[in-house]
Amino acid sequence: MVDRGFANVDPKSVSPQGEILAGFLAPHPPHLVYGENPPQNKPRSKGGWEPLRWAYEKCREKIKALEPDVILVHSPHWQTIVGHHFLAVPQLKGLSVDPIFPHLFQYNFEMNVDVPLAEACIQEATDLGLTAKKMDHPNFRVDYGTIVSLHMLNPDWDIPVVGISANNSPYYYSHDFAQDQMIKLGEATRRAIEKTGRRAIVVASNTLSHLHFDREPDIPEDMSQEAVYSFDQYQWDMRVIDLMRQGKVDELMEVLPEFMEKTFAEVRAGSLVWMLSAMGFPKTPASIHGYGTVIGTGNVVAEWDLIGAKNNMDLTTQETAVCQK
Ligand SMILES: [Fe+2]
Repeated sequence: MVDRGFANVDPKSVSPQGEILAGFLAPHPPHLVYGENPPQNKPRSKGGWEPLRWAYEKCREKIKALEPDVILVHSPHWQTIVGHHFLAVPQLKGLSVDPIFPHLFQYNFEMNVDVPLAEACIQEATDLGLTAKKMDHPNFRVDYGTIVSLHMLNPDWDIPVVGISANNSPYYYSHDFAQDQMIKLGEATRRAIEKTGRRAIVVASNTLSHLHFDREPDIPEDMSQEAVYSFDQYQWDMRVIDLMRQGKVDELMEVLPEFMEKTFAEVRAGSLVWMLSAMGFPKTPASIHGYGTVIGTGNVVAEWDLIGAKNNMDLTTQETAVCQK
């Protein structure tokens, strides 16, 4: 076996070279789980937010087909003041309650964590000069952002996960400092995936525009009351989504600071930039599976199919070689 410097890595799970198969922008309004009525969630609904839930169903099929070893998710609702923290308990179980919407989300979670990969991420992040820590408290209550994104992408919970906290630097320091941290964290994540031989999915648990209504209808899932918060905010979302669709990742990175400023966009927490960095800022056009509002916020479910793009490129190269013979 090749020594990659990670003593705790299970040799059975190591392939010659790890890689990121795909990335998903996977927003986490608890309303989506509430609308679905899974057995793990206590509150019951009459449905709601179907276009977003159907978008997630398409992602579930893709993920099952890819058979990844692990799903890594960066969540804005696991906030840490000092450094970047990684879930590192082999099995986590408990009740997670959304503090703002406890009447919508009281979820009994149970998940397996890829601890060797979490440890590798911590090592790589430390090597790049970041403060990175292990969360190894056996009764740690996992935040609803992590759980909603993971549930919506894989409700069977049959794939190990690594949860990553959102360091609060975007809210204390300048945009540039905060995003630089996320770029390094993404790079560290990619290196850890490669060195541990994992076939991984990366997930950014972020809503787009985030100004929202502060009154809830009597029936939260009454879709006659659901609307975009403002035309301005909607136009911003469409501008950003269009850049994703066209694979214009450099322009996307350029526009993000203004987008965050104008719409209080949740991408400020860094999940999207972490994911783009982990994927190497791909020029691959994102597939947009669906867009919808939740209490007025803008949510897009988007996929960067890196392995599909790589296979297509290999095919094109082979065809070109055949034509030239
Ligand atoms: Fe959120």
